[in-house]
Amino acid sequence: MDGNGRWAKKRFLPRVAGHKQGVEALRRTVKACLDAGIGVLSVFAFSSENWARPPEEVSGLMELMALALSREVAGLHQQGVQIHFPGDTSSLSKRVVEGQRKAVELTAGNTALVLNVCFNYGGRWDVCQAAARAQAQGEVITEQAIAQRLALAHVPDPDLFIRTGGEMRVSNFLIWQMAYAEMYFSDVLWPDFGAKELSLALGAFRQRERRFGLISEQLDATAAPDVKAGT
Ligand code: IPE
Ligand code: MG
Repeated sequence: MDGNGRWAKKRFLPRVAGHKQGVEALRRTVKACLDAGIGVLSVFAFSSENWARPPEEVSGLMELMALALSREVAGLHQQGVQIHFPGDTSSLSKRVVEGQRKAVELTAGNTALVLNVCFNYGGRWDVCQAAARAQAQGEVITEQAIAQRLALAHVPDPDLFIRTGGEMRVSNFLIWQMAYAEMYFSDVLWPDFGAKELSLALGAFRQRERRFGLISEQLDATAAPDVKAGT
């Protein structure tokens, strides 16, 4: 969800105002995903690297998470959204961790959309924590042993990766899970994102031929169902 700071700067507002507007964009995008019948939405809200931002921005983002937890969860629950907060909770405030725990517990039975709000998340952190747990449990390190322990093990790997704000980088998001994700880059700043931009991204996604290492001719009716599915 990139471009909040630039959105605010263009309006001579503090960066945190852009992040606040980003929450609105997320609410719109969740609704658009529900309308489009999408099963899983994973967003990058705060990265392991974001701690190095100016202290007032870091505290503003933490405050915003606490605020969003108290204001947004009931509405999401009503819409049937199941919420998760993949990330390292060890350095988050008690208030945030407790709010997250309550939101996860409240929405655990919902099935309309799985929303992963990655918070204090980093792709490298995720692979390491998964590998460390596998090792501690005496497992041989295999792809499966790691994949089963990743912070997003409750959902399939993403099909579509959208980055807003004109940057063309992965920036340590779901580095393991994105092995076969289709990448889509939008110049739109995150606070301006919504149903229209999501539909543009989905349109681009539908044009892609997903070969998963195979060749085009193999992707006919005889191809393995999981390869053809392209869900
Ligand atoms: C949001 O956008 C990313 C978050 C950490 C929430 P940015 O804060 O990176 O906005 P820009 O890139 O400065 O415009
Ligand atoms: Mg940015």
